[in-house]
Amino acid sequence: MQRTILITGGAGFIGSHVIRWFLEHYSGYRIVNFDLLTYAGNLENLRDVEHNEQYAFVKGDICSKEDVHKAFAKWQITDVIHLAAESHVDRSIHDPLSFVRTNILGTATLLNACREFWTDGGEHRFYHVSTDEVYGSLGADGLFTETSPYDPRSPYSASKASSDHLVRAYGHTYGVPFVISNCSNNYGSHQFPEKLIPLMINNMREGKPLPVYGKGDNVRDWLWVVDHARAIDAVFHKGILGETYNIGGYNEWKNLDLVHLLCDIVDEKLGRAAGTSRSLITFVTDRPGHDMRYAIDSAKISADLGWMPSVTFEEGLALTVDWYLANAEWLNHVTSGAYREYYDTMYTHRNDR
Ligand code: NAD
Ligand code: DAU
Repeated sequence: MQRTILITGGAGFIGSHVIRWFLEHYSGYRIVNFDLLTYAGNLENLRDVEHNEQYAFVKGDICSKEDVHKAFAKWQITDVIHLAAESHVDRSIHDPLSFVRTNILGTATLLNACREFWTDGGEHRFYHVSTDEVYGSLGADGLFTETSPYDPRSPYSASKASSDHLVRAYGHTYGVPFVISNCSNNYGSHQFPEKLIPLMINNMREGKPLPVYGKGDNVRDWLWVVDHARAIDAVFHKGILGETYNIGGYNEWKNLDLVHLLCDIVDEKLGRAAGTSRSLITFVTDRPGHDMRYAIDSAKISADLGWMPSVTFEEGLALTVDWYLANAEWLNHVTSGAYREYYDTMYTHRNDR
């Protein structure tokens, strides 16, 4: 049986890298990109593969039974890699219900379709791409492992934790064959510039304030998005059904240190005087409920599936900055219109310290 993989959220940041990776490395699969093209989804992210005959795009809503069933029936879907989500923590604080809808109802709608369509006794796999934020926040020490208790603390992470629970419940109750991975912060090309790294690069480019929340001492563990796509490949092909794999970069940075590093890289690449971008740093009101530290123990995926990050942070960050500086048109396009209004509302009221 030919594998036909429904990749949800394929027009977004990580999804577009996963699609490109699978098309480049597996000639026998059909890849169906199922995406609603919300503000975060952009088919420009996949211009280079849109004519690949293994690839098809379907515009659809994961919360719509009709859209999902139509795609399963038309394409005879054998596997799902589920990335579609509302993904930005700040937005979840402003509008939690859209996160409940997309991340919880959407995941359940996909799981129901798997139950209904995968009755042929063939090999199938539902892969939920999830986040380390389900484990809550760490103090100064320790790492999240696959057995860390769930303790989500934002509407976003609570909705992702709910969707993880639903995946396991459908596995346990109905026998839906699943794997889950929980990954740390990704960075790389094509990330929507509401997230820390592309937002900072874009603002440096435009000479705008660089909004650092609180004192900038929160810590994140950064992983290059292509290394996440490689990990997804490993879990999809070699992960044991019913198992969970944590994915991280062993690459912890305090936000302020990371912003300083980015300022210096961008100034150097743009030939600006040292300190030009650093002078744009503005401390703003903290994110409500801001998780202090995330850090992942990737020992299981390394030992069991042989995955390791392939680039250093210096290499990944240099590639990333180069991409944003070379793709001003992409940045201008995705930051026009509705996004601009959202950004102005967020930062006008935050910029009060
Ligand atoms: P993104 O916001 O860039 O992309 C999300 C995609 O989902 C977009 O293309 C959007 O159009 C699509 N989408 C949203 N609602 C939809 C709906 N109702 N139906 C169909 N498509 C819909 O997100 P991302 O950063 O690429 O994250 C992808 C997944 O990986 C998410 O599930 C996220 O929780 C998870 N994740 C992200 C990170 C990270 O650092 N970005 C880390 C770990 C896990
Ligand atoms: O850990 C994985 C998660 O990483 C993913 O599940 C989420 O989808 C993804 O958005 C990301 O969540 P974060 O909240 O950690 O990422 P964000 O880029 O929004 O913020 C990173 C850190 O930078 C966080 O401590 C908040 C801070 N920050 C963020 C922005 C956008 C700022 O100080 N200023 C900013 O303008």
